[in-house]
Amino acid sequence: MTVTPSVSSAKGRVLIVGATGLIGQFVTESSLDAGRSTYVLVRPSACGPSKAKIIKAFQDKGAIILHGQVNDKEFMEKIMREHEIDIVISAVGGENILDQLTLIEAIKTIGTIKRFLPSEFGHDVDRADPVEPGLSMYEAKRRVRRLVEESGVPYTYICCNSIASWPYHDNTHPSEVLPPLDQFQIYGDGSVKAYFVAGTDIGKFTMKTVDDIRTVNKSVHFRPTSNLCNINELASLWEKKIGRTLPRVIITENDLLAAAAENCIPQSIVASFTHDIFIKGCQINFTIDGPQDIEVSTLYPDETFQTLDDCFNDFLAKLGDKPVNTNKITTTNPVVESMAITA
Ligand SMILES: NC(=O)c1ccc[n+]([C@@H]2O[C@H](COP(=O)([O-])OP(=O)(O)OC[C@H]3O[C@@H](n4cnc5c(N)ncnc54)[C@H](OP(=O)(O)O)[C@@H]3O)[C@@H](O)[C@H]2O)c1
Repeated sequence: MTVTPSVSSAKGRVLIVGATGLIGQFVTESSLDAGRSTYVLVRPSACGPSKAKIIKAFQDKGAIILHGQVNDKEFMEKIMREHEIDIVISAVGGENILDQLTLIEAIKTIGTIKRFLPSEFGHDVDRADPVEPGLSMYEAKRRVRRLVEESGVPYTYICCNSIASWPYHDNTHPSEVLPPLDQFQIYGDGSVKAYFVAGTDIGKFTMKTVDDIRTVNKSVHFRPTSNLCNINELASLWEKKIGRTLPRVIITENDLLAAAAENCIPQSIVASFTHDIFIKGCQINFTIDGPQDIEVSTLYPDETFQTLDDCFNDFLAKLGDKPVNTNKITTTNPVVESMAITA
């Protein structure tokens, strides 16, 4: 009997676009940790001490830094040819999704890319149906999907659901701040479940898929059962960690719709996704049994996911041994408060 290997023997060279962003950093670190030849595209405009620190850390781990823009077709063709890139992963942010159209044209022209992962890293955008302005971002992601499919380039869509964090409805990077310390904002009745996946696991499992032949032209859904949780349970978990209870304020469906309708970018986009997740149940209201669907735990059954308990222990560690004294905190905004405490 012939056994088909799930992973090709030689590790392909990876080019990562958007490596300095939230998701891109996790993916790049995993690529480097896996010992892959990792090329990182950095915009010439990327400056400032925080970006420089990220880039230096990548270089120290062996990344090769290339300066340029993803929407410069000739440049992209040149670097992919010159460096014999096999796999392209894009993690450009929400406002730059359509920049990938030029990248796909470049990938199609050179004809040697074995796998392309467009900037997805959230919901299955063909199934989820948020209100505006989130819908416009999904329409852009759908447009990218259709061009990838037409191009004939082998692809994988990473549908990793929510990053493990307190899901603030106005913060695009909620994992970068602590869960609340004054009060919880509970969406609706707080009973709708969602999947919360650690950023490091988003990176790790993304990198496992890139030359796995079972994931060619598939949507890989991240649904680890240990990470399925509703917001009431998430609040209780954090209360257990900090050793005290906090007041719970209900944010109704109409409150979230009103925040989305304000069309204040990017906060209203997050509000529309929050509505889709915690009111409409967009992560759990469909089964993943289509021919294009695959669940990540079924691919790698021996690999464990970081649990929510672990993730919240990490948040607790960031609090350090600073005393938690809410009387000193004047703001009622949990995001600002969390930042104040970590500062
Ligand atoms: N599942 C979740 O909970 C979750 C959370 C957040 C985001 N996401 C998704 O993850 C993806 C990445 O979002 P993010 O928030 O991580 O992004 P981000 O932090 O805003 O970072 C975007 C990255 O893309 C780079 N970039 C943008 N336009 C570019 C261009 N034309 N050429 C080269 N580089 C370019 C940026 O470079 P500079 O450094 O030069 O700005 C930056 O490195 C998105 O699809 C988003 O929807 C998912």
